[in-house]
Amino acid sequence: MSRPAIHLSVIDADATHTALSIVGLAVAAFGLLVVYRRFFHPLAHFPGPFWASVSSLYGVWAFVSGGEHLIHRGLHEKYGPVVRFGPNELIVNDPYMLPLIYHRKADKTEVYAPNFGIETVFTWLRHQDHVAAKRRIAHAYSLLSIKNLEEYIDECLAQWISALSDISKDPSKPINFARWAEWFTYDVISYLSFGEPIGFIAARADVRDLIKNYSDASMLLEILALLPKVSWWMRKTWVGRKFLMAKAGDRKGVGVIMAERDRIFEKHTRDMEKGDGSKGILLTKFIAAKNADGTPMSTDDVKAEALLAMIAGSSTTSNALVRLIFNILQHPSCLSRLTAELDAITPTLTSPIPTFEEARTLPFLSACIRETFRYSPSTVQFPRVSDGLELNGKWVPAGTSVSASPWIMHRNKEMYGEDADTFRPDRWLEANAETTALWDKYDFRWGYGARKCLGRNIALMEIYKATILFFKHFRPELVEEIGFTSSGGPKSTTLYIHPRN
Ligand code: HEM
Repeated sequence: MSRPAIHLSVIDADATHTALSIVGLAVAAFGLLVVYRRFFHPLAHFPGPFWASVSSLYGVWAFVSGGEHLIHRGLHEKYGPVVRFGPNELIVNDPYMLPLIYHRKADKTEVYAPNFGIETVFTWLRHQDHVAAKRRIAHAYSLLSIKNLEEYIDECLAQWISALSDISKDPSKPINFARWAEWFTYDVISYLSFGEPIGFIAARADVRDLIKNYSDASMLLEILALLPKVSWWMRKTWVGRKFLMAKAGDRKGVGVIMAERDRIFEKHTRDMEKGDGSKGILLTKFIAAKNADGTPMSTDDVKAEALLAMIAGSSTTSNALVRLIFNILQHPSCLSRLTAELDAITPTLTSPIPTFEEARTLPFLSACIRETFRYSPSTVQFPRVSDGLELNGKWVPAGTSVSASPWIMHRNKEMYGEDADTFRPDRWLEANAETTALWDKYDFRWGYGARKCLGRNIALMEIYKATILFFKHFRPELVEEIGFTSSGGPKSTTLYIHPRN
């Protein structure tokens, strides 16, 4: 009776021994990797925290902590302008290094590889592929093309102001400005991309939870981007593609937006066949675009670029608009100077909605916009692959990821002065031509070099116009004192809005 028990205990002992051996080997391998990364890796001579030098999880921890920019700042204060932030990664805080890192032939790192859909102008890693992808669509984003779309922005704006006016009739009813900003920018970008707004402003709601689905997915996508090996597995293996990659028709996440894109794309194609679909929108321009060999872009490429515009151009713009409005509200003197400037130009305007040309001539508004992008940018790190360069007197081997963030660059005190941590639009009005030229040269709000934001004219057009009309029509009142996050975003975005006249 006892034999089987003895037999089992022998098996148990064997299994325990094997398991211990495996664990022991794994610990030893990890130990060797740690020693190699810390002391023998080509980046070992760059300073930085221990855990960053031995594991990429340090970067993930910094990102999910929500205070990545503060962690970066603390590390630069401790270790200097170039810090080792991952086993194979450096971060920098000196704006003069931007042209060295973001030069014409700089490739992007795996962080950008597409975790849904296919390659686009934003996701191509090799600079040669990017040049080809950009050449075929850049004209669609040119200032001239965008000016032809201005009337669609005005249409959304008129609808936005009218809906807000309705709400303002009940002075006891506050609005969540962040939601309203999102509805405006998502309607604009769907209109410009696909020829019809999705209808957030009309519904005064997040239609089919599209915005929620995207924002729920984006945190996960950003974490995946920081773990290139995991994201590679998801993109390149059958299991990953089948079960984890977003696809049109998913009930949650980016797939919901992809399905919306497909629905509008098919409708647009039918309209074009009937001869009434053009409107000069991005989708039409992408359909007409040609590859280098003269062939048209494939339907998949067209759909991917249109989806990119939707995604790259929506919450980025609404975040910037929210930050601008709350920076102004936080500083009553800015608010009164701005409203005085708006009142002064109103009689000279040819139409109730100023043109982009007119809007850009407003000096104080322009200063507030520039200062918001400097002081409170909401974008993160933009890594590039080094092809071998010297930074701060040390050699950075080819293949290293080197990156910078607008928040860190734009708070640089040598470049912007001792008060760089203060929101002060006047710095843009006081600066002489030489200083302004320097700030323009090292401006990082749209990225740097060949891969600078293609949609910046669209974003600026929306932001200028929406801010003018908002303060022209309404006197916003804060529901509570504004608290700001360390990156410069308002903690609460609830406002009462009263009609101004
Ligand atoms: C305030 C709003 C916006 C901000 C702050 C912003 C910021 C940026 C930044 C920093 C990059 C470069 C990223 C990198 O180098 O890794 C970028 C690229 C890009 N953005 Fe924007 N963006 C905004 C609005 C838009 C809009 C409205 C669109 C389209 C309608 C758009 C389309 C793109 C595209 C297509 C790229 C890729 C460009 C390339 O690689 O050639 N963005 N954006």
